[in-house]
Amino acid sequence: MSGKYEDVFIIISVTIPVNCQKLIDGLMPQIKDMERTLYGTYHRNIIEYSTSRIKTPESIVEKLHRKNREVSLNKAIETLRDLAGIRIICSFQDDVYRVAGAIKKLPGYELVKEKNYITKPKSSGYRSIHLILRPTKTTSNIKCIEVQVRSAAMNYWAILEHQLCYKNEKKGAERIRKELKECAIDIAKIDKKMLKLRKEIEKI
Ligand code: GTP
Ligand code: MG
Repeated sequence: MSGKYEDVFIIISVTIPVNCQKLIDGLMPQIKDMERTLYGTYHRNIIEYSTSRIKTPESIVEKLHRKNREVSLNKAIETLRDLAGIRIICSFQDDVYRVAGAIKKLPGYELVKEKNYITKPKSSGYRSIHLILRPTKTTSNIKCIEVQVRSAAMNYWAILEHQLCYKNEKKGAERIRKELKECAIDIAKIDKKMLKLRKEIEKI
């Protein structure tokens, strides 16, 4: 690591986590409130659980490189909108839409971008809804936070695929990738079937 590069890495390591934490601390209590309200309304867990993560300095530098951007604190803050992230795991597929809809209406947040990888899964087979939110008021020098909303089934696939393949460019992995995609399709079918069963039970 060259001296200049090392300095940038240290600046990123010191500045980004504290500012990301401010964004997470601002949003997480609202998600917990939402979880309680939804439980009160539907009498079941709409949200199974939620987690947060802060992008690591290594991952920030890798992403800036990958996107051909200058490796600097300012570029990271300016161009990366997933430095702070919250992931919400829902029980059923319709709950994902329910929660994403509620997130979009949260007071004090503006929706910057929505990516629906459920209606249009990624080529890997990945399914989820991603929302980029910007708080209207914050003391953080980072302006956006990414919220990923997915069902337990979508999460099961994403976790295992992440371990096995994501960003792993190993040669000869094409067949495995194809099979993982088939797994994603099978899991999506099961997700739909579970939803259908829940709706049938609700009618009894
Ligand atoms: P990243 O550099 O990966 O963060 O890409 P991006 O922020 O430009 O956008 P994207 O909408 O592709 O979302 C990336 C995030 O979604 C990742 O950090 C993962 O959490 C998740 N993700 C996206 N694609 C996949 C995939 O194929 N498999 C898994 N397991 N997760 C994925
Ligand atoms: Mg990302």
